[in-house]
Amino acid sequence: MPKSNRKASPALGKTPRLAIAILAAGKGTRLKSKHPKVLHEVGGKPLVAHVISAATRVVPAADTYTIIGHEADRVRRALADTGVRFVVQSEQRGTGHAIMTAQEALSNYDHVLVLSGDAPLISPQTISSIRDFHLAERAAMTILTARLDDPTGYGRVIRKSHGGDEVEAIVEQKSLKKGQEKIHEINSGFYAFTTKPLFAHIDELRTANPHGEFYLTDMAEILKKARVVALETSDPHEVLGSNTRAELVALDRYLRMAKCHQLMARGVTIYYPESCVIDADVEVGADTVIEPFVQLLGKTRIGLDCRVRSYSVIKDSLLGDVVTVRPGTIMDQTRIGSGAILGPYSHLRPGSEIGDGAHVGNFVETKKIRLGNHSKANHLTYLGDAEIGSGVNIGAGTITCNYDGINKHKTVIEDSVFVGSDVTLVAPIKVGEGAYIAAASCITENVPADALALGRARQTVKEGWAREKRRAKAAKK
Ligand code: UD1
Ligand code: CA
Repeated sequence: MPKSNRKASPALGKTPRLAIAILAAGKGTRLKSKHPKVLHEVGGKPLVAHVISAATRVVPAADTYTIIGHEADRVRRALADTGVRFVVQSEQRGTGHAIMTAQEALSNYDHVLVLSGDAPLISPQTISSIRDFHLAERAAMTILTARLDDPTGYGRVIRKSHGGDEVEAIVEQKSLKKGQEKIHEINSGFYAFTTKPLFAHIDELRTANPHGEFYLTDMAEILKKARVVALETSDPHEVLGSNTRAELVALDRYLRMAKCHQLMARGVTIYYPESCVIDADVEVGADTVIEPFVQLLGKTRIGLDCRVRSYSVIKDSLLGDVVTVRPGTIMDQTRIGSGAILGPYSHLRPGSEIGDGAHVGNFVETKKIRLGNHSKANHLTYLGDAEIGSGVNIGAGTITCNYDGINKHKTVIEDSVFVGSDVTLVAPIKVGEGAYIAAASCITENVPADALALGRARQTVKEGWAREKRRAKAAKK
């Protein structure tokens, strides 16, 4: 939140029309990546997606213009569900050039807030305060600034006078004159412009700089007579950018720790939070304990009083209350009932629905199944495309043979069935309620309710056979 205690004066006359432009066209050369910079993820989300979600809490998505260029189609696809508009800057000739590209769209507004697509910690409150300060100051350009201990790499803000709000110029790192490197007040890359003076003068930008680019920062000097002001933020974290991998990782760590602290404040215990990776949208109920080295990803929601033990990775899953997830369990798009016990080392793949109080144990893989309440599959089993009732016991080593090389087929196991160990169920197949299946059976035909099915060769015993073999061997020597 910015330091200034000035209040925005209510807009005179009609409410000004406000747009947000997000600069997201750059290649991100310093990341040394083949992927577009703004799609690199921090806190489990692309950089620019964080900026968009803050922006669209200040103006509607329909007034938010994301300027894309490098790998524009990929960026557009990744952001399609945000509802923002896109402007394509097909050649990336600098931040000033990006805004020139968007001139036609932005000229319909009175003011435009410009945000940097690679600085993901910006909050809606800070964006609003740039707007309010800009309107109250009746400025042509307002620059959000921050004082950083290490300002290296950022543009420096030269104020007209010490303590005054007005700005003389922004000087980029590479163009700093002697003494200017000592200035710790940096340009955050977040601005507000009044569109009339902006577009009346934007063609005065020149490319006489070390990068040969049109710098948006040069608008400060161009517009200074029309009033350019600086608003210093009190939370310098919010403006941190991600030009390098090291900066990217630092931002990710910051977001992860912030998420852990938010959950802890809501009653969740997280041991060694610095070892856990929890995405922004994850929800966890009070009294749940998260052990070290756990990942909770995507839209995962975990209930009350659960315990998630170490090395578990849970993505886009819903867990009820009092669920125990033992170490090393991997889950993706699953629903887990209350009181269930999973793992260690279970792999629950998409579409697995595990009932209340059910157990899924060591080295059990599930995919697209429903396992009823209090049913158990505790050891070394594959259950795919299956509908399994409640109170069912699935013995160790059971396999649903769901795939014939072309199609997938379904296995139905009704309530209270007992499946012995090492059973193969060749789908499509149905086992009726209360039936028993003998260990080591290969079941290829439906089993009626309450029946016993045996599907294995009868055992033969040859008395004394082994002794005879040993004797014959000894006689040869
Ligand atoms: C910019 C500012 C610098 C400020 C810093 C804050 C300029 C010249 N410098 O430097 O004063 O301290 O941000 O983080 O503006 N982009 C486009 N089109 C382009 C070029 C860039 O859309 O042609 C986008 C990039 O994708 C990025 C943003 O603009 O999201 C900023 O560009 P970047 O190259 O990262 O600027 P910095 O060197 O960080
Ligand atoms: Ca940057």
